[in-house]
Amino acid sequence: MAGAELDAAEKWSVDELRAHQLARLQETVAAAYKNVPHYRNALDTSGVHPNDIKDLADVRLLPFTGKADLRDNYPFGMFAVPRSQVVRIHASSGTTGMPTVVGYTQADIDTWADLVARSLRAAGVRPGDICQVSYGYGLFTGGLGAHYGAERLGCTVVPMSGGQTAKQVQLLRDFGARAIMVTPSYFLSILDEMTTQGIDPRELPLQVGVFGAEPWTDAMRAEIEERAGIDAVDIYGLSEVMGPGVAMECVETKDGPTIWEDHFLPEIIDPVTGDPVADGEEGELVFTSLTKQAMPVLRYRTRDLTRLLPGTARPSFRRMAKITGRSDDLMIIRGVNVFPTQIEELALAYDGLSPYFQCVLSRPGRLDEMTVNVEAAEGFSSDLWAQVETDLARDIKDRIGTTAKVTVLPVGGIERSVGKARRIVDNRPK
Ligand code: DLL
Repeated sequence: MAGAELDAAEKWSVDELRAHQLARLQETVAAAYKNVPHYRNALDTSGVHPNDIKDLADVRLLPFTGKADLRDNYPFGMFAVPRSQVVRIHASSGTTGMPTVVGYTQADIDTWADLVARSLRAAGVRPGDICQVSYGYGLFTGGLGAHYGAERLGCTVVPMSGGQTAKQVQLLRDFGARAIMVTPSYFLSILDEMTTQGIDPRELPLQVGVFGAEPWTDAMRAEIEERAGIDAVDIYGLSEVMGPGVAMECVETKDGPTIWEDHFLPEIIDPVTGDPVADGEEGELVFTSLTKQAMPVLRYRTRDLTRLLPGTARPSFRRMAKITGRSDDLMIIRGVNVFPTQIEELALAYDGLSPYFQCVLSRPGRLDEMTVNVEAAEGFSSDLWAQVETDLARDIKDRIGTTAKVTVLPVGGIERSVGKARRIVDNRPK
């Protein structure tokens, strides 16, 4: 089919891929050392010189980079090129209020567009398709990253951004987008709006949803695919490493995002010790950029927890398992580790419950308590809520091992977000 051809790199053998990775790693480390004082100091302190990188495993000699390093070098201290060569800035708002700044040269913007175009192709999107971009535009990388990639592939792009849900539905119907790029949680709101307007999403031309920017489970995929009659695929990325399109799930396998390893070298480490863990084992995902000019990152700690898996649809490129959660989202309730994705999976097994939920943490006495607030599905009789509350609490106890109170709320009881959903409400005293 026209426009379905793979990039040359997607067809590289493992040996070719590793050779390119090594050459690019060496160049990246050399440039970072030469041009970014932070990296020069960090490498000097670790007693490592760029010439020590002789094979790919030597990446482990390099010191880690974390969000704090970006903050300490706010705003432009991590740039490896003169600021005048930076054609675009993005930023993510951190919890501490100081944004994390990232920059791109024109070549970086081109690489990014190419990788999002490659990702869209992997999702089954083709040149000529209408693609509605409902990720937020602005400092967030979602909107513009998706936009440039969809244009690069040759789509007709509808730059809707997030919000104005009724209009989202109107444009999906009137323009007839074949693909939408949006957070999975906001897509649920769009589906609800269709229901309100009496539109059957399965009757629309929409066929592909490119969902990311937040964790979502296979249970959520099943729910969305069934309701909307589309293929729902997972796009992963983070601003510090580029933005959307670091990894993308291939629609023919739907088995977790394929990492575009020609541009990003992944590792999984033990989040506590920093030691490498073997492929297939869960730990924290770490990336070293291989081609970025304006802001190379060496061993950037994503805080995302996942596993590296062998390639399938692109045999030479490793995949990552769907993200379990961020270490920041790990809730430790009376000694038991819980992620919101685990709650999502259990809640979605109930027909009477909607996919809208929040975990509310409190500390009434000395111990932490969790209440799971979950919205009833449309038409689910309130006579049955108490039973479901008991049943879901039992599932959480049996399957996750922690005690939680479950409260079913009426439709609309959980706040809606037009971007990333807030799954944890932490009311514990600071
Ligand atoms: O969320 C980039 C992006 C935009 C990715 C649109 C995909 C689609 P940040 O705002 O910097 O960048 O947030 C990055 O979001 O470290 C993960 O914790 C989470 N995240 C992103 N994609 C996924 C995904 C964008 N597919 C942080 N699954 C990352 C789970 C995801 N979590």
